[in-house]
Amino acid sequence: MKTKKILVLHGPNLNLLGKRELSLYGSFSLKKINAHLKKIARAQKYTLFSYQSNVEGTLVTKIQKWASKVDGILINPAAYTHTSIAIRDVLVAVGIPTVEVHLSNIYKREPFRKQSLISDVVDGQVVGFGPKSYELGLHALIQTIEGPRKGPKERPKERLKT
Ligand code: DQA
Repeated sequence: MKTKKILVLHGPNLNLLGKRELSLYGSFSLKKINAHLKKIARAQKYTLFSYQSNVEGTLVTKIQKWASKVDGILINPAAYTHTSIAIRDVLVAVGIPTVEVHLSNIYKREPFRKQSLISDVVDGQVVGFGPKSYELGLHALIQTIEGPRKGPKERPKERLKT
């Protein structure tokens, strides 16, 4: 059986995890989180690739290039969650299973963080559990990949028209 693949994408400043606003984001480094996710994925016969960028266009290009090579995307777009139509558009364009995660509960924070520009085009969202959000998100993504696929009418591409 061919191993399935997952791409984990981290947006700006997440390379500072473990040093940045510890009470909000926890003390785990990104390296540690990625290694943990890799282990969980491997146990489920998945190969996991992770990538972090502080640059919006680089994240967009990464999604364009990798979407045909992976079975799903786990993404924390960080600050771009609230601003990036480009990331929203590329997720709609590629239309593969995608789960959004946030370490903090963005709905309990400043008003400008309460809006995610991707929440209605992804399969689901996990927020507020610190590094555990990634783990829960990974399990949810694998279930989405393994489960019955939604029909074309329910895919994000179609939802955009409404
Ligand atoms: C974040 C929440 C965003 O609002 C913020 O800009 C981040 C991290 C989170 O994981 O809680 O950088 O995505």
